[in-house]
Amino acid sequence: MSLRRRTIPGKEVALDIRVVVGDVTRFRGDALVVNLFEGVKAPTGATGAVDADLGGLIRKLIRTGEVTGKWGEQTLLHTLGKLPVSRVLVMGLGKPGEFTLDRVRIVSAEAVKQSRKTGARQVGTIVHGAGTQTGTEGFNAAQATQALSEGAVLGLYRFRRYKREPEDAKEIQILTIVEREREKVRVMAEAVRRGRIVAEATNSARDLVNEPGNTLTPTELARRVRGLAGRAGVRCQVFGPRELRRLGARALLGVARGSQEPPRLIALEYRAGRRGGPHLGLVGKGITFDSGGISIKPAENMEAMKGDMAGAAAAVAATLAIAQLTLPIHVTTVVPATENLPSGAALKPGDILRAMSGKTIEVINTDAEGRLVLADALHYACSRKVTHLVDVATLTGACVVALGTLNSGAFTSNQALLDKVLAAGRAAGEKIWPMPMDVEYDELIKSDIAEIKNTGGRKGGAVTAAKFLQHFVGDTPWVHLDIAGTFETDKEKGYQPKGGTGVMVRTLVNLAVELLAE
Ligand code: BES
Ligand code: MN
Ligand code: ZN
Repeated sequence: MSLRRRTIPGKEVALDIRVVVGDVTRFRGDALVVNLFEGVKAPTGATGAVDADLGGLIRKLIRTGEVTGKWGEQTLLHTLGKLPVSRVLVMGLGKPGEFTLDRVRIVSAEAVKQSRKTGARQVGTIVHGAGTQTGTEGFNAAQATQALSEGAVLGLYRFRRYKREPEDAKEIQILTIVEREREKVRVMAEAVRRGRIVAEATNSARDLVNEPGNTLTPTELARRVRGLAGRAGVRCQVFGPRELRRLGARALLGVARGSQEPPRLIALEYRAGRRGGPHLGLVGKGITFDSGGISIKPAENMEAMKGDMAGAAAAVAATLAIAQLTLPIHVTTVVPATENLPSGAALKPGDILRAMSGKTIEVINTDAEGRLVLADALHYACSRKVTHLVDVATLTGACVVALGTLNSGAFTSNQALLDKVLAAGRAAGEKIWPMPMDVEYDELIKSDIAEIKNTGGRKGGAVTAAKFLQHFVGDTPWVHLDIAGTFETDKEKGYQPKGGTGVMVRTLVNLAVELLAE
């Protein structure tokens, strides 16, 4: 089964994932991936069959303690003609009681990355942990196959647009999943398709986050989103300064004033499913570069602020994935896009803006621009009558201080929706931690002169930012996700390469599924 698809125009995705019925020991290719749980002395199943053909080599290495099956262990064996494949890679799965679906993604990513390093073009693999009843969760062949496909596509991702001589140019071309039981193949092939769609969507979000600010201007972001939407059959509207003035998007226009680049408000609509069903609103912060504006940031690490549109990237990529999966749901996605730069025309501390909703905002700090553009985008999404609203934003350094880079922060006025978001995150392997929203925090953003001000001081900065947003969602059930700590990483790890992570794409897709289960 060949599932070739395109993500970026003209750029073919190298990895083709197939599911075949057969005996792994008959697999022909450059490398074969098998596995071993910690504590196993004599492997059974696929690993056992490979071991038998290798004359008991794996058992021997277990006896001498060279192979243990510990989590993270990788052993590369040369088959010397004893199998049709030239190399076997034995991946340690760790203790069965600690095995999870996310570990399937990680082990799959590590295996394909290792195989690519050895120059392999055609790689075979068994599905890790299918049918295992582990200590923390049980999962079936379809779930494990989807996770394996996600891990492979996510793990092989590299942003090579600006490198003419890539490190190792060879890419794996075909990953063949070998399954013994014919009855499982159909659901597994379907799981591969789902895994590829969400992982490729995540990779397209990573591409947008990694793209520098000089090429990815608000205009270019809108152009790319329009292109991607067109191919997914999603309606795309793009509003420029004139329409924004007509809409009264003065908070967004205020932030854009310091920039030479015109702002854009991008709206996507995917309409499927029954009338009266859920209408999911997604809003993503789309600051294509955040210098802080007149309240300018220090130079150190300012380059990371090219990724201040990671929320936009996640919302857009998730919408396109939902469309490709043909989920029967109605989704409206809104992205306010602008640069935040200083100039003689720029927004100043002390300025007062009237947002689209009519509310007046005193600007204390022009670096708190995300909440300003989101104020208009959230209000606009509500005006399109969404029944559930989720925004994703690289909103506050305070959230990074609170949660570090492991968890995204979640803020809500609706516990039921938050519970669904948390469940969606767990299934995606994306960690999300709920944060408080007590009404007492509202005191901190009261303004003496306008109805609200855009900063509440350093204390509880992530919460007061969320409190600010809450003023613009009315009583629509809403969750705000602060991804300031998780949108990029400076360390390669498992299926996460350095740079943009594409975080929340898979969570948002899972959320759409959750909403349909109601
Ligand atoms: N985009 C930043 C937040 C950010 C910080 C994202 C670090 C990713 C990594 C946001 O616009 C910002 O500058 N927030 C200010 C708000 C403050 C002025 C109230 C912050 O967090 O310092
Ligand atoms: Mn800022
Ligand atoms: Zn920002």
